[in-house]
Amino acid sequence: MSDELKNLSQEMLPALEDEMRTVLKMEDTPPDPFFGMMQYHMGWVDAQLQPVDEYGGKRIRPLLTLLACQAAGGKWSQALPAAAAIEILHNFSLVHDDIEDASPTRRGRKTVWNIWGEPQAINCGDAMFAVAHLTICRLSERDVPPETVVRAFRRFDETCLNLTHGQYRDMDFETRNDVRVDDYIKMITGKTAVLLSLCTELGALVAAQDEEVITHYAEFGRNLGLAFQVIDDILGIWGDETKTGKSAATDIVTKKKTLPVLYGLERNSALQEMYRVAEPDNDFVRQVVEILDQTGAREYAESRASTYSAAALWHLEVARPVGEAAEALSQLAAMLLQRDY
Ligand code: IPE
Ligand code: IPE
Ligand code: MG
Ligand code: MG
Repeated sequence: MSDELKNLSQEMLPALEDEMRTVLKMEDTPPDPFFGMMQYHMGWVDAQLQPVDEYGGKRIRPLLTLLACQAAGGKWSQALPAAAAIEILHNFSLVHDDIEDASPTRRGRKTVWNIWGEPQAINCGDAMFAVAHLTICRLSERDVPPETVVRAFRRFDETCLNLTHGQYRDMDFETRNDVRVDDYIKMITGKTAVLLSLCTELGALVAAQDEEVITHYAEFGRNLGLAFQVIDDILGIWGDETKTGKSAATDIVTKKKTLPVLYGLERNSALQEMYRVAEPDNDFVRQVVEILDQTGAREYAESRASTYSAAALWHLEVARPVGEAAEALSQLAAMLLQRDY
């Protein structure tokens, strides 16, 4: 990791963690098992609710918010509640996503539903959504003007609606054989890109930038989010489970219409037939990966991700970011394209 990104992350991430631990009641005594499920998902306690320091994810969304705020000329600490709210919203969506995708593991640990059952995991996710929403209120305590707080609320809820719409499409596509790349882009825009867009938008909004600059920050995040999801699709097929912490076969077993799969389906009739009729098992996964390798689906997806990443960097440049945070944002964009987890 480069110096600017490392220095700023080391300064910002502990403050972010404090903000999230406060709103998720980590320091409350006695501990409450209801919040314990949320704390488990965040990586702060184990399944017996004993404090641990497990891996809780990359925290790239809040980092984007804080860096964008600083790069847009604001004070990053003012954006902390927005960054915390977005990370908790992201984690709410993962608790539900793991039920929706029948995923047994995340971040190398059992998923919430896999420990406490689906009914409790649904409720745990709902609660995290409410906490995330409430966290936005805390912007008022950091001298963010009331009209900016109201706007942040509106954008937060609009984003959540778009995100769940994207998740609807993602699940709907599992049983459909007529999905095109355009449909896929709409789907990942909803499930992933709008949230990364909100990160950078709210960072610039708290920095009180003008509308044009805010729009460029939002577009930076949206394009970065598209690249990010395409890379996630690649890792979902060719990734190393010990690094991603997620099962590599799940996307194929559930017949997700990810970008490499759509590319393969458009070019290979045997693959089309398999997706129409086969009941997925281990052999199905092996055969699908073999066909995708032959058609060059991975290289295609990698080049699409690079194109989105380049578009993201163009918007960042036009937004004229300043200082160390500007450098850190472009380094983060480059890192996300190269990531293996
Ligand atoms: C996973 O996001 C879900 C997607 C939208 C691809 P991340 O890869 O950011 O997950 P964590 O928070 O780092 O585990
Ligand atoms: C997750 O998408 C998107 C949301 C939770 C909104 P995926 O289902 O593709 O992500 P992973 O691979 O499970 O992290
Ligand atoms: Mg999913
Ligand atoms: Mg999933």
